[in-house]
Amino acid sequence: MIEVKDLTKNYGDRLAVDNISFCVKRGEILGFLGQNGAGKSTTMKILTCFMPATSGTASVAGFDVFENPYEVKKRIGYLPENPPIYLELLVSEYLDFVANLRKIPSSNKKKKINAVIERCQLGDVRNRLIGNLSKGYRQRVGLAQALIHDPEVLILDEPTVGLDPKQVSEARGLIKSLRSERTVIYSTHILSEVAATCDRIIVIDRGKIVAQEAINSLGAAGATTKTELIVQRSAESVAQSLRSLQGVKSVHYQANGKERIVVETEPREEIMAEIAKVVVNNNAGLIQMSPVQLALEDYYLNLISGKRGVSI
Ligand SMILES: Nc1ncnc2c1ncn2[C@@H]1O[C@H](COP(=O)(O)OP(=O)(O)OP(=O)(O)O)[C@@H](O)[C@H]1O
Ligand SMILES: [Mg+2]
Repeated sequence: MIEVKDLTKNYGDRLAVDNISFCVKRGEILGFLGQNGAGKSTTMKILTCFMPATSGTASVAGFDVFENPYEVKKRIGYLPENPPIYLELLVSEYLDFVANLRKIPSSNKKKKINAVIERCQLGDVRNRLIGNLSKGYRQRVGLAQALIHDPEVLILDEPTVGLDPKQVSEARGLIKSLRSERTVIYSTHILSEVAATCDRIIVIDRGKIVAQEAINSLGAAGATTKTELIVQRSAESVAQSLRSLQGVKSVHYQANGKERIVVETEPREEIMAEIAKVVVNNNAGLIQMSPVQLALEDYYLNLISGKRGVSI
């Protein structure tokens, strides 16, 4: 669906993207992982025809981004890093404006707008000014404008940045609901984020691809997710039960006064449900369960220290 070959972008003498090649299959969710300045947004801008590459080729659904930008843009929904959202418009007015830009026939427009409002849970704010919305709601408006024309491909540049944990989880749910229906590229700094949402990741560092992994091989790659639990009582017995769960790599607990447990697991989402079940079965009184996000840097260090011989 997306093919990138030997793509390079220089901004003057700054090399932002350095000869990268990758493919994304139809229906796949690809996580684009990299630190600040790695070249994620630059690659996405080239794929969405916002900017030409210095050399190399890229195509979407068989159309070259340089030769057929119109055909490419028709098929893509793009959530940029800083969405150009009009603060002085109501949510519904803005979506109407985007629908017109996307040349959605007027007979179909209302239906399409209502559908994205529902999908992005914007019903409560449809008649509010975008300028008065919270960051999370603005991000949802950004997602809605990317989805309005039912694109085959979605390019989402840090869709969860600045969202609170509940909104992050809702945004992930929304993106996952697109699986198999659309092809998605999704950039982030956070490994646990891609582990929870994507089928495959590409790690990009200083413009180069340093690793490509299927998500289900991440556990083997040494990537883990840490979860912190605060309980009312019985931290010790909860910790003991957790140790026997499949996929749990380590458990640390603190039982003196503050009953706190930190459990390190493979990055599989089902494990979260299993952990919660253990707490309930121990009647421990769950107060809090939250992910301790593993910094990308830790993952890099694992990769780069050559633990698995990933070629860099
Ligand atoms: N318009 C520009 N002019 C000059 N240099 C730029 C421009 N845009 C980006 N760069 C540089 O290109 C490199 C890659 O930037 P890019 O925005 O693609 O990174 P990123 O991976 O999206 O980072 P972040 O996580 O901070 O969003 C950086 O060194 C950046 O300073
Ligand atoms: Mg960026």
